[in-house]
Amino acid sequence: MPLTSSALDRQALSHRYRRNREVSAQVFALIDPAGFAQRPIPLRHPFIFYEGHLPAFSFLTINHRALREPHIDERLERLFERGIDPASEQAAQQLARDDWPSREVVQAFGRACDERVLAALATAQLDNADVPQLAGGQAVFAVLEHEPMHHETLLYIIHQLDPAHKAPITQHHRDGAQPANDLVDVDAGMATLGAARNEIAFGWDNEFERDTRHVPAFAMQRFPVTNGAFLRFVEDGGTPPPFWLERDGEWRLRGVFEELPLPKSWPVYASHDLAQAYAQWAGLRLPSEAQFHRAAYATPAGTERPHPWGDEAPSYRHGNFGMVRFDPEPVDAHPAGASAWGIADLVGNGWEWTSSVFAPFRGFEPMASYPQYSADFFDGKHYVMKGASPVTAVELIRRSFRNWFYAGYPYMYAKFRCVAVR
Ligand code: AVJ
Ligand code: FE
Repeated sequence: MPLTSSALDRQALSHRYRRNREVSAQVFALIDPAGFAQRPIPLRHPFIFYEGHLPAFSFLTINHRALREPHIDERLERLFERGIDPASEQAAQQLARDDWPSREVVQAFGRACDERVLAALATAQLDNADVPQLAGGQAVFAVLEHEPMHHETLLYIIHQLDPAHKAPITQHHRDGAQPANDLVDVDAGMATLGAARNEIAFGWDNEFERDTRHVPAFAMQRFPVTNGAFLRFVEDGGTPPPFWLERDGEWRLRGVFEELPLPKSWPVYASHDLAQAYAQWAGLRLPSEAQFHRAAYATPAGTERPHPWGDEAPSYRHGNFGMVRFDPEPVDAHPAGASAWGIADLVGNGWEWTSSVFAPFRGFEPMASYPQYSADFFDGKHYVMKGASPVTAVELIRRSFRNWFYAGYPYMYAKFRCVAVR
């Protein structure tokens, strides 16, 4: 049902906004002051950018662009408006700048943005069919989903930060026996990608329209490819994944906060390029976006469901997501999250690469609140990822949500599994 003004609960929206800001503060607190100007991923801005970007984006999207309110500080708003996604480190060098304001200046600007955003959430007309940015409350929902997406971005950048500059969080890690990874048959049938505009309260522009496709029969690995399985490929001459390191002849994993003996039952995080190299070596392929949907959301009875496990709202019982943990778990840790075909770990424990180039569905229209959100990435070089990682917020878990990155991007919490044609 379309959302009406009365359905926008101001208190709930303010609560979510404040909660997002608290999580951001906790994430920034992991970085020591000396680490703040660092750029652990050369393809991204330093941490200081993100501290300004989050409140700037919220203010610009709700107050300035949607509600047409005056500026706070035009220079800072422009500086922090948008991140970067250069194709190479060379291109990133062109975008690098060394004139970032001090943290004091950025934090004062952030407080000014928060004040204006919270005032709007308390009193402004947030759902207004006459203003494209406000139709269905779009700007507010975009802001409330943007910040959690950056919690993930920040954590995977913090992952790459010199441990001397970060405050570690202690986690308990479990490794186990690697389950047999058999190919599970998925019958031919329909898969629904995307969503209808009146079907979900909010979606990013790339989630529309609904796109139902016929998918021929195929078979998909029951579990994502584990570190243990990937090790056999590496021992056969394959490239080691970016999160591994070799010490005294032993493979180890660089977790977010600590180094561990390689957990063989965890999914391997790999770039799309590396995932594809593995699939080829194994005589298999990466699933298309439609195959992922069919395996995750369709049932042998011919229905389609909102989540692999059915209708229940997503919780940690169903998969490793929601920032309960920062690192993965064994691929068979959440049997309650398996799909109707018995295919496990599809949502959580790392996004899953598909073979599908990120492209619009029929009926795509750039969203009024953020027209470049997706459109700038329909360049044939970004690939769709589905599911969720350990640090993906529960609010982002819905069937139509799509993530995307360059094929060679090695920093994402992205796993994969393979399919065979039947
Ligand atoms: C959807 C995760 C690919 O991080 O580039 C954040 C999300 N866009 N701010 C990204 C995003 C603008 C985007 N991803
Ligand atoms: Fe952003």
